[in-house]
Amino acid sequence: MADQNRLTDARLPGTDLSGSDLSGSDLSGTDLSGTDLSGATPVAAPHPASPGLLAARLALRVEELHAAGLGRNALPLDGLPTPMSRSAAGQPPSPALVHMEGRPLLHFAGNDYLGLASDKEWRATVAACFAHHAPSGTASRLAAGHTVLAAEAEAAWAEYFGYAECLFLPSGYQANLALLWGLLGHGDAVFLDRRVHASMAHALPPTGARLHTHRHADMDDLSRRLAAWRADGNDGPPACGTACAPQPVVLAESLYSMDSTLPDMARLGAVAREHGAFVIVDEAHAFGVLGAGGRGRAHGVADVAVGTLGKALGLFGAFLLLPRGTRNALENLASPLIHSTALPEAHAACCLALLDLLPRLDDRRHHLAALGAALRTGLRAEGVPVREGAHVVCVDVGDEERCTRLAARLRTPTDGGPGVLALAARHPTVPRGAATLRLGLTALHRVDDVARCVDLLARAWKEEEEKQNAAPQHAFLDSGTDTADGAPGEQS
Ligand SMILES: Cc1ncc(COP(=O)(O)O)c(C=O)c1O
Repeated sequence: MADQNRLTDARLPGTDLSGSDLSGSDLSGTDLSGTDLSGATPVAAPHPASPGLLAARLALRVEELHAAGLGRNALPLDGLPTPMSRSAAGQPPSPALVHMEGRPLLHFAGNDYLGLASDKEWRATVAACFAHHAPSGTASRLAAGHTVLAAEAEAAWAEYFGYAECLFLPSGYQANLALLWGLLGHGDAVFLDRRVHASMAHALPPTGARLHTHRHADMDDLSRRLAAWRADGNDGPPACGTACAPQPVVLAESLYSMDSTLPDMARLGAVAREHGAFVIVDEAHAFGVLGAGGRGRAHGVADVAVGTLGKALGLFGAFLLLPRGTRNALENLASPLIHSTALPEAHAACCLALLDLLPRLDDRRHHLAALGAALRTGLRAEGVPVREGAHVVCVDVGDEERCTRLAARLRTPTDGGPGVLALAARHPTVPRGAATLRLGLTALHRVDDVARCVDLLARAWKEEEEKQNAAPQHAFLDSGTDTADGAPGEQS
């Protein structure tokens, strides 16, 4: 049975739910009625020692995280890759080269999968859109923030991706929040993969929906849980049978970016059909890259698809692809949409321009697929444990500190060549003891960038192994207690 506070207690962005069994649990107990959200001063006079108490408590919490190898710091890049950079010798550097504190690094830590963020022509297009159209939404969608151009862009996006309606929102996080808060209510049954993104998982508790988690990307497990739920008396009142039974909602991603998993979409569709489920698929890491013309992996399976423009699509903001009538439902019911400033008209102009570009990027998509295959093959040949995947390559490390050390070593090679910037994904982004080195490819990478990455990681991996073999055994005995699937319910 679930610890009911686990989700609501989440403190960090990116919650790892794999340690909690939420199956069948009712997290609807979040009752804010009677809670004073006005920010009014407490009745009692503040204790003289209170200034700084909260800050001290926060400092302690952060200290504990760092001590456990789970601390995080945002390391600033000197800038993202620029289309113009050239070395002094005139030799063109890798287009994926960035600098951090002056140190050259091949960028394997981003989500600019198609390289659009540093594409000269795309930048010029975006600049032109912002030069000609308002750069601010100035009001919420329902007030006066929606424009004819935005409506045109939404219609064009719905058509391109093959859905009835589309809705643009300022971020993917907000899109998931708006979608789930708008769609779900008390008692709805939601079936979610244990590794769904924090923006979905964190949105769920306030909806009052009953949450049922299933093993990561395991469609048989999903099917079993849906069948058990139906058998539990959820087939609707006998008078109307399944025709008026409550509809279960399934949440999934089409590419889990912290696991590099590509779940079986056809099987997801079949399971959903069998149980009459409504399917929501987050395609944040697939849109633009996977599927014909970058249309993703879930078309024909998902009732709703979620996309972000801040990854492969070289912009910012997000979009929901919806069945007919759902957009207006969200306009009426989804606070994150109702109470937030709309995206600017310039953004809509960019989105229209992006639709002209998207179908023409097959060369980049093919290059990216080839890079992914080369990186996985190269690392495997060196004995580095790599998971299956696409343009995201995940290396299983396990121990958090070891993962942090590997990422640091990649950034600081001693041979004078460029380092590699990779993400050491640790709890709560991944389950405890299942730290992962995440390598994000971009079409900007060249084949020799991948070779450099393989070389540096193979060396760093061997050094770590030698160190581990030389260390007394007991130092490693209790690492990796909790695997991605061994314990339920956490996510990236
Ligand atoms: C699967 C998934 N969904 C949603 C989001 C949130 O998107 P955005 O970055 O646009 O807020 C992310 C981003 O990290 C993601 O990985």
